[in-house]
Amino acid sequence: MEITYLGHAGIHLATGTSRVVIDPFISPNEHARAAGLNLASLDVDDLLLTHGHEDHVADAPVLAARAGVHVIANYEVAMWLQGKGAHAVLPMNHGGVLHRPYGKVRMVNAVHSSTLPDGTPGGNPAGFIIEAEGLRIYHAGDTALTMDMELIGRYWTPDLACLPVGDVFTMGPEDALAAAEMLECDRVLALHYDTFPPIALDKDRKLRAQAAFAEIGKELIFLQIGEQITA
Ligand code: NI
Ligand code: MN
Repeated sequence: MEITYLGHAGIHLATGTSRVVIDPFISPNEHARAAGLNLASLDVDDLLLTHGHEDHVADAPVLAARAGVHVIANYEVAMWLQGKGAHAVLPMNHGGVLHRPYGKVRMVNAVHSSTLPDGTPGGNPAGFIIEAEGLRIYHAGDTALTMDMELIGRYWTPDLACLPVGDVFTMGPEDALAAAEMLECDRVLALHYDTFPPIALDKDRKLRAQAAFAEIGKELIFLQIGEQITA
């Protein structure tokens, strides 16, 4: 599976058969545009949205309107997109699992908030565990460190955990290390940092966090926007 960092909390997963995009934030993100990304050339089959905040759903109405795209989100966010002309929505809620052509999508807890950009209540925020090609990828959404991660580690140990590390609105890189331990996950992809001044991480803090991960045999990965890794 190829995983491409789309900037902010956005990732693109390419399996042999499907393209899964989570929380794309490209057109309003100057860093993503500077890296050469654009919505028109983004290949999407399933569009997964963790919660209703602008920096996670801004590009969703345009992508969701495309023929063939299925939106997977909580009921409130899914209905909001349906009202904006989404082609197909698959609403779900925490604890549920959807079976998709490439595998399974499980919705899990996140500790955060979820109001939509126009003030519509966005339900409760979530993370996703995507199971495909024998691998489990966890996208935590926006969240604090939470004991739910221990539950995920115990029952659905991820091969790769995509965790927010920008602090202020989510956990920071130090808590991400504790999250990796609870998740029993050796490979963490950093998300939700550097997009806006309040969540900028200085280079030293990134290096210190990476060293702390390495000390316990784990890896904290910071990708350039548009860069790929293989899971
Ligand atoms: Ni948020
Ligand atoms: Mn956010």
